[in-house]
Amino acid sequence: MKRIAVYPGSFDPPTRGHTDLVHRSLVLADQVIVAIAKNSTKEPLFPVDERLAMLRAAVGEDTRVSYQSFEGLLVDFARQVGGTLIVRGLRAVSDFEYEFQMAMMNRHLMPGLETVFLVPPEDATYLSSSLVREVARYGGDVSSLVHPVVAEALRRRFAR
Ligand code: PNS
Repeated sequence: MKRIAVYPGSFDPPTRGHTDLVHRSLVLADQVIVAIAKNSTKEPLFPVDERLAMLRAAVGEDTRVSYQSFEGLLVDFARQVGGTLIVRGLRAVSDFEYEFQMAMMNRHLMPGLETVFLVPPEDATYLSSSLVREVARYGGDVSSLVHPVVAEALRRRFAR
């Protein structure tokens, strides 16, 4: 049976840490669905469609990876697509409490749905979408932190 992993997040915007995790998660699953949450409480910088296109460009062509947006509970989305694994990145101890709570709640809502945590490359442990947004907003260089397509989108977004 095909093992399907769901990699959920806001990806606003996707960073090098995110794309690394997509590639890494292919070790665990036959198919990875990158799932962009629509109903985040945060006010997004980029619309969902643009985030999806950026992720696609940053990850590159791979038939084992697909991209979808979802609304509502992650467990309902996972059920709908036949996902049995949730993949999340764990950068530092500071991530742990939130990630642990989410993993436990998701398991409560859907027993059998396992969450696995993968660690990003050492030089991406400090990397987050919110920091990238902030640096780009004030004209800092983010070219080594995100794919060129994302860097260009940020430049255009903040040039206004
Ligand atoms: O990249 P983020 O913002 O840390 O991702 C958080 C995300 C989207 C994975 C989380 O907020 C989520 O799963 N949202 C969907 C709604 C849901 O299922 N909430 C309960 C999670 S316990």
